[in-house]
Amino acid sequence: MLKVEEQQPVAFSSTLLASFDEIVMRYPVGKQKSALLPLLHLVQAEFGWTSVPAMDKVAEYLAIEPIEVYEVASFYSMYFLQPKGKYVLEVCRTGPCCLVGAEKIMSHIEGKLGVKEGEVTEDGLFSWRGVECLAACGYAPVLQIGPEYTFYENLTEQSVDELIDNLRKK
Ligand code: FES
Repeated sequence: MLKVEEQQPVAFSSTLLASFDEIVMRYPVGKQKSALLPLLHLVQAEFGWTSVPAMDKVAEYLAIEPIEVYEVASFYSMYFLQPKGKYVLEVCRTGPCCLVGAEKIMSHIEGKLGVKEGEVTEDGLFSWRGVECLAACGYAPVLQIGPEYTFYENLTEQSVDELIDNLRKK
């Protein structure tokens, strides 16, 4: 896990700040904190992940305490608090998927990519992590890849290899 002191300071572009302004205007005066989720999405789209310095700047912009941003960003799994690859393979690790080999799939992905859960491949393309039920238990084992959250179902080691190879070719 990256320590806070290892995280780089960030500067928000005028374009990003204009997007912030546009979103905040949708909410009643004094309720600017309601814009926090979409603002964090914009930050993540801009920087690839949601670092502490970036969250601090969001807090400053919204005139709220940094902890109010941290607690939201750490609650929702769509925000990445560590650097991530371009493609994040999110493998369901809940019971039904585990019964049909999710753990084996995760081990296979770890070996194929050569990185542990949460780490990023050297080329910056991939990271992976286990997640809770993706609501596709009937098609287990399952993984999803954001930001479109495309589902890949009935996974086998071979289908995972094909998926990763195809993404590499993109
Ligand atoms: Fe894996 Fe539900 S347990 S999708």
